[in-house]
This record gives sequence, C-alpha cells and structure tokens, in this order.
Amino acid sequence: MTDTILITGGAQRIGLHCARRLAESGHRVIVTARRERPDWSQQAPEGVELLLADFSTEAGIDALIDTLNRRRIRLRALIHNASQWQGDDSGAAGFEAMFRVHMLAPYLINNACETWFAHDGPGDIIHITDYVAQRGSAKHTAYAATKAALENLTLSFASRFAPRIKVNSIAPSLIMFNAGDDDAYRQKTLAKSALGIEPGPEVVYQAIRYLMDNPYVTGTCLELNGGRNLKPAR
Ligand SMILES: NC(=O)c1ccc[n+]([C@@H]2O[C@H](COP(=O)([O-])OP(=O)(O)OC[C@H]3O[C@@H](n4cnc5c(N)ncnc54)[C@H](OP(=O)(O)O)[C@@H]3O)[C@@H](O)[C@H]2O)c1
Repeated sequence: MTDTILITGGAQRIGLHCARRLAESGHRVIVTARRERPDWSQQAPEGVELLLADFSTEAGIDALIDTLNRRRIRLRALIHNASQWQGDDSGAAGFEAMFRVHMLAPYLINNACETWFAHDGPGDIIHITDYVAQRGSAKHTAYAATKAALENLTLSFASRFAPRIKVNSIAPSLIMFNAGDDDAYRQKTLAKSALGIEPGPEVVYQAIRYLMDNPYVTGTCLELNGGRNLKPAR
C-alpha cells in the first residue's frame, strides 16, 4: 500500500501546492478543508483526496481523528498547515479560534497519530508555524502566541516519538501575498527581508522535502524567511 501524506488546510494556496508536488512525487495525499471545493468535482488535483474537517470545535477535531482511525491509513507524513491569520481586533473569539486551529488540533491529532504511521518506514510530523512565533508581532499578538505554542509542541512530540517519527517545524515569513494586498503593503512587506522577494509556495515544498528526506533532523525549526532576521524590525 502507498503511504499517505496528510496536510491539514491543504485545499488552497501553500497547502495545495505542496499537496500537488507530493502527489507528483508518488505519494498518496489527503488534504483537509472545511468545505467542498466545487471545481474539484470537475477536475480534482491528481492523487489528492479532500476530507472535510473543521477544527473550530473539539468535536470537529475528534471527528477527523475518528475518520482516520476507521480508515486505518498508513502515514508517511502529517503536515499541520491549517491556520487563521486574525489580527488583535478579533479579541477573545479570534484568540480562541486560533488556539483551536494552531494548538488544540495539532495536539489532539498528534496524540492520536502514532499508530497511523507505518512501523517499518520513516515518518514525519511537520508543523507550519511562522517567523513571528519567535519574534512576536505588534498587531497579531494572539496569532504569534498560538504559532509559538505550535513550535513548542515540536519539541515535546519530537522527544516522545523518537526515533520512529521525526517532528520538526517550518517557520516561514512572506511566502505569497493574498489577492487583496495593495501595492503599498506589498512594497513594505518585501522590504522586510534581505532577499526582498515573494518566493511562492515551492520553497515550502522544498523545506518539507528536506525534512522528510533527511534522517538526522528532529526537534528543530527550519527558518524560511529570506533573511528577514538580518534586517532591523519595522
Ligand atoms: N502565506 C504566507 O505568506 C505565510 C507566511 C507565514 C506563514 N504561513 C503559514 O503557512 C501556512 C499556509 O499558509 P496559506 O497562506 O496557504 O494559508 P491559508 O490560505 O490561510 O490556508 C489555511 C487553511 O487553513 C484552513 N483552516 C482555517 N481555519 C480552519 C479551521 N478552523 N479548521 C480547519 N481548517 C481551517 C483553511 O481551510 P478552508 O479551505 O476550509 O478555508 C485554509 O485552507 C499557514 O500555516 C500559515 O500560517 C504562510
């Protein structure tokens, strides 16, 4: 049986790009999303299956775990990519929503996942965090804090699952803009990194590939930020 890679929140943008690339390289890929993608009924990405899952409640997280238990999947990798980028004006509701998607869902899914991984092969859990997890953020305090917690989960699970399953984080800064980002915002954001480019999602795929292919890396965070740390904070 071909081993499966599960990507949460993988039906769009970075997650979808990585799903397609991993499918091209011969993996079976399952992505989760909160709703059906109508265009997928015409032509779903080859080798990529969509599973509905909503992490806005504990019951929603448990429902995904139950489904995966019932299916008896054999995992090669589990990629926690689902995310919400809410500003501090979203208050307690925003904090709680991001707590569930960035912290509670990865925590409960990781607690349940050990038997899903093949016993005779390599296994990887990858947490997609953010540059701001280690630096904080002026207007996205709760986002940064919940991503920092996700980064911390990496350490505990890497220790718990070694040597069978490696657990690492990838901490990106700008990867791709959102459609509505205006020119002023784009220029300001590009100027934050030494390399000054919008790299696109292929660099996340390359980082995932590196972590999956390297047998000696666990409990680490791979910074993917174009040298943003080299420039003074703005
Ligand atoms: N884009 C960047 O430049 C950038 C920079 C730094 C870090 N990152 C990180 O990289 C990852 C991918 O970024 P992206 O821009 O591709 O993200 P995105 O477009 O916002 O997609 C995130 C996904 O998370 C899912 N999601 C949100 N809330 C959920 C919930 N309550 N339950 C289940 N799924 C939920 C969404 O699912 P639906 O399909 O159901 O809406 C969506 O597909 C994220 O972890 C992000 O924090 C991205």
